[in-house]
Amino acid sequence: MADPSSVLILNGPNLNMLGVREPEIYGRETLADIDAACKQKAKTLGLTVDFRQSNSEAELVTWIQEARGTQDAVVINAGALTHTSVALLDALSILDVPIIELHLSNIYAREDFRHRSFIAPAASGVICGFGAAGYDLALDAVQRLLAND
Ligand code: DQA
Repeated sequence: MADPSSVLILNGPNLNMLGVREPEIYGRETLADIDAACKQKAKTLGLTVDFRQSNSEAELVTWIQEARGTQDAVVINAGALTHTSVALLDALSILDVPIIELHLSNIYAREDFRHRSFIAPAASGVICGFGAAGYDLALDAVQRLLAND
């Protein structure tokens, strides 16, 4: 049997503070809760998940570069770097696997500066506004995209 497909799930700045960070916007689940839910969900889909968080743009760029040839898909909640980072866009553009851009909140219903995503041009699709359930939806999307490959 072929190895299960591997999905790198990246979380950017301040997402380590989920649960205490503006819970009215981001919900009460912690990143550890979401990590555990992703691993459960991945099992049901026959995927494996490598779930990471960093507050450092440089570290995220390095992880994306390392995903080349080692991961079958990337899900990324880049946090505020979504709205600023050409470096993340450039790194994601090197990959040739499905990429899902993800946000807990509906960035289009918030401040104007959140309406612009620098990384969206590299994404296969974008999921936002569904809270922690967005991670579950992103894994469904990955599985469909890989199945259609
Ligand atoms: C976020 C939305 C961003 O605008 C914000 O800077 C975040 C979290 C989200 O998941 O809703 O840090 O990516």
